Amino acid sequence: MLKRLWKILKIGLLGVAAILLLVVAVVGFWVHRQLQPQDVTAARARWPKAMTFETADRTALDLVSKMTLEEKIGQMSGSGMAPAILSALFRGTAAPVYAGANERLGIPPLAFTDGPRGVICGRSTAFPVAMARAATWDLELQRRVGDAIGKETRAQGANYWGGLCLNIVRHPSMGRAQEVYGEDPWLTGEMGAAILEAVERHNVMACAKHFALNSMETARFKNSVQIDERTLREVYLPQFRKAVEHGAASFMSAYNKVRGEWCGENRHLLTAVLREDWGFRGFVTSDWIYGVYDGKRGVQAGLDVEMPQAKVYGENLKKLVETGQVPQVEVDESVRRIVRTKLEYLTREDPQAYPPDLAGAPEHAALSREVAEKGMVLLKNEGDMLPLDKAKIRKIAVVGLLADDGATGDHGSSNVTPRYVTSPLKGLRDYLGAGAAVLHANGADLAEVGRLATEADAVVVVAGTRWDEVGEYVTDEEGLRPNGPSQKRPLVIKLPFMKEPFVMSGGDRVPLSLKPRDLSVIEAAVKANPRCVVSLVGGSVFTMEEWKNRVPAIVMAWYAGMEGGHALARVLFGDVNPSGKMPLTTPKDESQLPFFDEYADTIEYGPYHGYTLADKKGYEPTYPFGYGLSYTTYSYRNLKVASPAVAPDGKVEVTVEVTNTGSRVGEEVAQLYVGFEGSKVERPVKLLRAFAKVALAPGETKTVPLSVAVKDLAWFDAQKNAWQVEPMTYGVLVGPSSRARDLLKASFRVLAVAAP
Ligand code: BGC
Repeated sequence: MLKRLWKILKIGLLGVAAILLLVVAVVGFWVHRQLQPQDVTAARARWPKAMTFETADRTALDLVSKMTLEEKIGQMSGSGMAPAILSALFRGTAAPVYAGANERLGIPPLAFTDGPRGVICGRSTAFPVAMARAATWDLELQRRVGDAIGKETRAQGANYWGGLCLNIVRHPSMGRAQEVYGEDPWLTGEMGAAILEAVERHNVMACAKHFALNSMETARFKNSVQIDERTLREVYLPQFRKAVEHGAASFMSAYNKVRGEWCGENRHLLTAVLREDWGFRGFVTSDWIYGVYDGKRGVQAGLDVEMPQAKVYGENLKKLVETGQVPQVEVDESVRRIVRTKLEYLTREDPQAYPPDLAGAPEHAALSREVAEKGMVLLKNEGDMLPLDKAKIRKIAVVGLLADDGATGDHGSSNVTPRYVTSPLKGLRDYLGAGAAVLHANGADLAEVGRLATEADAVVVVAGTRWDEVGEYVTDEEGLRPNGPSQKRPLVIKLPFMKEPFVMSGGDRVPLSLKPRDLSVIEAAVKANPRCVVSLVGGSVFTMEEWKNRVPAIVMAWYAGMEGGHALARVLFGDVNPSGKMPLTTPKDESQLPFFDEYADTIEYGPYHGYTLADKKGYEPTYPFGYGLSYTTYSYRNLKVASPAVAPDGKVEVTVEVTNTGSRVGEEVAQLYVGFEGSKVERPVKLLRAFAKVALAPGETKTVPLSVAVKDLAWFDAQKNAWQVEPMTYGVLVGPSSRARDLLKASFRVLAVAAP
């Protein structure tokens, strides 16, 4: 009897094991299939080399005529969420997300990977976040980052980079501020153009996102931005237009609505502005999953590809065409745009080969460190506390929750997985070696902080935001509802085999002050030892009036990438002379900012924020836009405008002499603002229109040329739907920051257009 039972049990167990094995095999096979790299250049041999736009367009038209409806629809959506989910769950193993391969016709897939911090596939180089790069004001450096990202994108098997994030920081609480280039459309546009050209040199299609007005995070899936046409064109879109002028292959629509219409279904944005006004010839993809709700409206607005899988395109779109609800020609137009762009990029000759070991290459880590060093901003340095003197420091204390955290940014779609990350603690230990003791406390025990600070020759407090405190945010169904909860409800996925849960937490950061945990660490440290420097970690600014006068030195270190700790050590000890400048205004408090409600279903974006708001209202911020100190000093003299009057299609050429008046080699960012005092229409007090980074030896003077095209002084006349340049006298304001008292002044006149 027992024997029989045992036999039955054995058979049962064997059966269960067999089923389990089968499930594992099927799932394994499916995962393997999903992560199978597709060769993005396989179809190259089928086509003539280096197709021009015209040839690619003709070829695309011909291909469209040969396609079945299924094949056309196939071009218009991603091939599934699986690689995206797998990549989110297994960081560091991510494959690109594919869309629209067609072997029969020799059409390559889109192979998408995110940015902007690097490449999110596999193990890639984690660069300082975009905001830190904006703080370098160094276009050449940004090009070098773009070059590295272009190479790593290709080395990871992708051909489509979603890292050109060009939204404007209207309010520094913006959750994804870390992914963008600050508050100013000019600086953002220049940074964007520099990186996109460099990435695209490697035949990678760059995707400018999120089009448009995605300047809030927590409510991104539901809020509607109310805005007048003039503000839209002058404040929130110029950097996107520049991306078109510099050849961006693609755009991604935003999740939010603009004037009540989802951006992915917004014909005004996707067709009237982007294509008809700006002449964009590439293709538009949706932001993911909640990016388009109505297939017909999407196609008719000009949204070409639904990512990452077909929800309202695919079968639904096929039916819409078959039943005549969407005209076939509209689908044909979309497919033509997608295919011709892919062919153009596919057939260009590659400048080099892209072996897998280019991803995360040591030279890119070195570049990451250089960028981190050049992006750090010295905000305060009373009594020249910095740089620290290596010969005099025997013991240094590094304290705070983020002291041993290699914070590279949030864990949203821009999360790159590098091979290693250097925390401030590790960076200082590596830097000082056996020469000095580096004491560490995470700040949980304030008495310990006090003890270590007393013992040490200097203290570094590392304060700011952890990855899960601000950033890209996905909420659950409840959070998506209009008039939904006014509390965050982050999406959390925790599976038994995962080391840490996948949490789409973060969202916007309200309030803008440091957390109480950091404030008490600063207080404890500085009480015990006044030789205290605060190093700030984050992607946006912190209000700091309540503690800034208590400490002699403050460095804005940002999310400084995989080499951030080493960079910080070299800045603190003076191997690097800080040259970063703030791409954001640091307000004294929130009353100096535009209205903000992170849960708002509807919000109005007005014409002024950041320095334009401070200028208008006469606010004195804690630190102005463009501000940053150095271990040396600079003086500005002899501002000269080449010609006092310029034609409306001309250029204003300006020079200024900048002298290094201190004793260290350094780099200075000269900024040119144009003033609009005499204007007959409402205008900002001034706008950034040029900048240059110059290296200067002690005592050295350089004449720095800066130029402004008159067309860039125009305002948008919404009534006439046209840009207008006022014939009048403009101010030229040049100096080390946007603060009025820092600027030299001159002027020039723009002549009226001669009557025909
Ligand atoms: C983000 C995009 C990103 C996409 C794919 C979206 O949720 O808003 O920026 O490119 O996911 O990861």
